[in-house]
Amino acid sequence: MKIAVLAGDGIGPEIIAQAINVLNALKADGLDFELEHGLIGGCAVDATGEPYPEATHALVTQADAILLGAVGGPQYDALPRPQRPERGLLAIRKALNLFANLRPAILYAELAEASSLKPEVVAGLDIMIVRELTGDIYFGEPRGIKQRDGQRVGFNTMIYSEAEIRRIAHVAFQAADKRNKKLCSVDKMNVLECTQLWRDVVIEVAKEYPQVALSHMLVDNAAMQLVREPKQFDVIVTGNMFGDILSDEASMLTGSIGMLPSASLDENNKGLYEPIHGSAPDIAGQDVANPLATILSVAMMLRYTFNQEEAALRIENAVQKVLQQGFRTSDIAAPGLQTVGTQAMGDAVLSHL
Ligand code: IPM
Ligand code: MG
Repeated sequence: MKIAVLAGDGIGPEIIAQAINVLNALKADGLDFELEHGLIGGCAVDATGEPYPEATHALVTQADAILLGAVGGPQYDALPRPQRPERGLLAIRKALNLFANLRPAILYAELAEASSLKPEVVAGLDIMIVRELTGDIYFGEPRGIKQRDGQRVGFNTMIYSEAEIRRIAHVAFQAADKRNKKLCSVDKMNVLECTQLWRDVVIEVAKEYPQVALSHMLVDNAAMQLVREPKQFDVIVTGNMFGDILSDEASMLTGSIGMLPSASLDENNKGLYEPIHGSAPDIAGQDVANPLATILSVAMMLRYTFNQEEAALRIENAVQKVLQQGFRTSDIAAPGLQTVGTQAMGDAVLSHL
């Protein structure tokens, strides 16, 4: 197993260090893998002038899986768009055809109090958001800012081909089939033709999965339902932009965006694994970031790319034990419980592996 490690910017290196400790602990137990490090995002811009350098592309093309920290920082905000760190992330997703982004939002019972919603509304929450990741308005052409009739206009293009919709729909139906067999497809078909096609194609694909109950929801309603009654959802499938927004919203239900891992897969389950949170430059280098989302991303890697379900469960159980014991990083701190730093949280997970 070849794993490319791209720590990135901000808190990236700190949280990745903890995830690597977890991988090394599993290695000591007989899992065989090689780690190779590369640059992406702001650190890559600093070193090479580009957020997704050729050397990184070569490295990740050869790897079976990629573990990524986070990219971005205020020092890069003034750079021309092609050099911004976020472009590195979009470039690697596109270059490796990582079209299927799985973002589970699971509430650990111990964190019910950390959620912004009432504990009874979120207790037992377990949603999987399947976000299309290489299409939509993120990549559509034409795009830009231009002069028109004496003023500037900004424009982007929301576009999906039926093939793109069909392949993500299959991923979502298969995910639902392995869970509670409920799939909700989110669109904005009352206004946007692009998402009318989305709905039509999802309905076509549904014929191949009669055992899965399919429903549809407009994105504004979905945003509302996620905070009104989130437990009505099992699997949600949606486009790139709606998925970006809804997955941040869903993450907060679970207590902290610092808890949520993600997998971005291609057609062969080669994957990029990263926490859904960003580089948090305001707390970088202070040993306060929550490493659990990154550690849980390693569990997803073992499950989806390497088919090591048992090892994945070991990590997830270790995280649960640590929470049960009362360890909390500051984003999930609670009165009477021990607030620990990044390193101490990582060590606590190791001790339960
Ligand atoms: C995410 C992030 C990225 C996105 C940004 C950093 C480009 O918000 O992974 O959700 O919008 O996809
Ligand atoms: Mg996002």
